[in-house]
Amino acid sequence: MESPFKPEILKGKVALLTGGASGIGFEISTQFGKHGASIAVMGRRKTVVDSAVSSLQSLGIPAVGFAGDVRKQEDAKRVIESTVKHFGKLDILVNSAAGNFLVSPEDLSPNGFKTVMDIDSVGTFTMCHEAISYLKKGGPGRSSDDSGGIILNISATLHYTATWYQIHVAAAKAAVDAITRNLALEWGTDYDIRVNGIAPGPIGDTAGVRKLGPAEIKSGTREIMPLYKLGEKWDIAVAALYLASDAGKFVNGTTLVVDGGQWLSGPRH
Ligand code: HXC
Repeated sequence: MESPFKPEILKGKVALLTGGASGIGFEISTQFGKHGASIAVMGRRKTVVDSAVSSLQSLGIPAVGFAGDVRKQEDAKRVIESTVKHFGKLDILVNSAAGNFLVSPEDLSPNGFKTVMDIDSVGTFTMCHEAISYLKKGGPGRSSDDSGGIILNISATLHYTATWYQIHVAAAKAAVDAITRNLALEWGTDYDIRVNGIAPGPIGDTAGVRKLGPAEIKSGTREIMPLYKLGEKWDIAVAALYLASDAGKFVNGTTLVVDGGQWLSGPRH
């Protein structure tokens, strides 16, 4: 779909995306690149990262990839430092890496719960923590008239109510939303950094929807969704463009729900 935004809205910006080589993260990488940003992607699987970088470069987007796991602080530090070494600075951090599977609470081991917390919540905090010195106003490579950088955390709507077989992810995304608000308060005040989130609903052609029961979601779609359809990865990427560009310059500490109204809807009586 054609972009509603001008192609230069992220001109000169450098963005690092965890989980940026696949799914929603890759679509954000692509749209950020098409709108002028240089892109660094981080992912656990080197082959997936390499193929994402080739795809971005074939579109003329300056891109580099690093294999790494957000659960390892040394990987977070190395990837952020390598991004700054490669492109000279860091303007935008997108935390899109996530883990997910369907399991009932009684069948979920505490380590399984912890694994998803470690990827989604602790991983998000670790990336932010390691990136702060580069993102803050006056950080390395930032010109003196630059404002601070931008952080975008990809969340979900699972925890607004309660979601079957998703206790671990609901807990993890609730923590992500808290991280978004607290960093927006403290780093917005101290470092001129904007921190926001996006909560996607069911998005077609993603691991989330493939794993979380596409049959149920698709067959029930007309009953439960005000807009009667699955979203597209594009919908999330243009929301990210809005928040990362100057269009969102007064938006800080919010998590934008992009779900067609799905989470607040129920069957018609
Ligand atoms: C029950 C499971 C499990 C499963 C793992 N575990 N998979 N428990 N059911 N299907 C448990 C294991 O038993 C183990 O606990 C612990 O978790 C760690 O498992 P590992 O396999 O060692 O972990 P790891 O290889 O690091 O993989 C973790 C992973 C991750 C969470 C499975 O690889 C993953 O999910 N990757 C896919 C990413 C993904 O789907 N992304 C899309 C997210 S969509 P024990 O006790 O046995 O040691 C999303 C959107 C939500 O988040 C909203 C949609 C609408």
